[in-house]
Amino acid sequence: MAAPQISPSILSADFARLADEVAAVSGAADWVHVDVMDNHFVPNLTLGLPVVQSLLKHSALPLDCHLMIEDPDRWAPQYAEAGAGSVTIHAEAAKAPIRTLRAIRAAGARAGLGINPATPVEPYEDLLGEIDMLLLMTVEPGFGGQKFLDVVLPKIRRARRMIKGRELNVWLQVDGGVSAETIERCAEAGADVFVAGSAVYGADDPAEAVRRLRAQAER
Ligand code: DX5
Ligand code: ZN
Repeated sequence: MAAPQISPSILSADFARLADEVAAVSGAADWVHVDVMDNHFVPNLTLGLPVVQSLLKHSALPLDCHLMIEDPDRWAPQYAEAGAGSVTIHAEAAKAPIRTLRAIRAAGARAGLGINPATPVEPYEDLLGEIDMLLLMTVEPGFGGQKFLDVVLPKIRRARRMIKGRELNVWLQVDGGVSAETIERCAEAGADVFVAGSAVYGADDPAEAVRRLRAQAER
């Protein structure tokens, strides 16, 4: 399993000061998690490709783009071509996931597959060779600040076993309700990339919050 990585979600940051908010975690975090929502796949609207293109010019950290959109097959490769370090599409939304994941990789980004809390991971086992990261949602997607869903923990364990069984180097990301209270449970279950929005940007010192989360995940 890879060393724990922390990916602060700017969904909980001040959208009018995004470059500063990204700079605030640049010395402490591994990635910046960017939640793209289209008000169709999820009931919320955030930002899209133009904002990501601008952020890329101002971020010292690679962008971890999480596409919660209805048509990822059309859009995901463009995020990779723009320079995102990682692009995650949702299994529930993609109509041609293998083609899209391959296009993301071909454009030089890490390819991620996202799975909602109620979506089983087993049907995607054969796709593990096509991805660099599996994202398991630990809240229903759409909003920051929700309560961590413990019901997903057994799926994290099963996913880790699947990855290990195939001897693949696929990162296992958890997203939603990850905090000082829940990160150890996620790490123990087998997650190694931790998205945290409110736990980082709701803190007085976001960089310190990232360092604390990392220390807890390393225990
Ligand atoms: C929710 C997003 C998350 C969100 C997490 O749909 O995918 O990335 O920002 O926020 P917290 O950490 O506050 O649950
Ligand atoms: Zn996210």
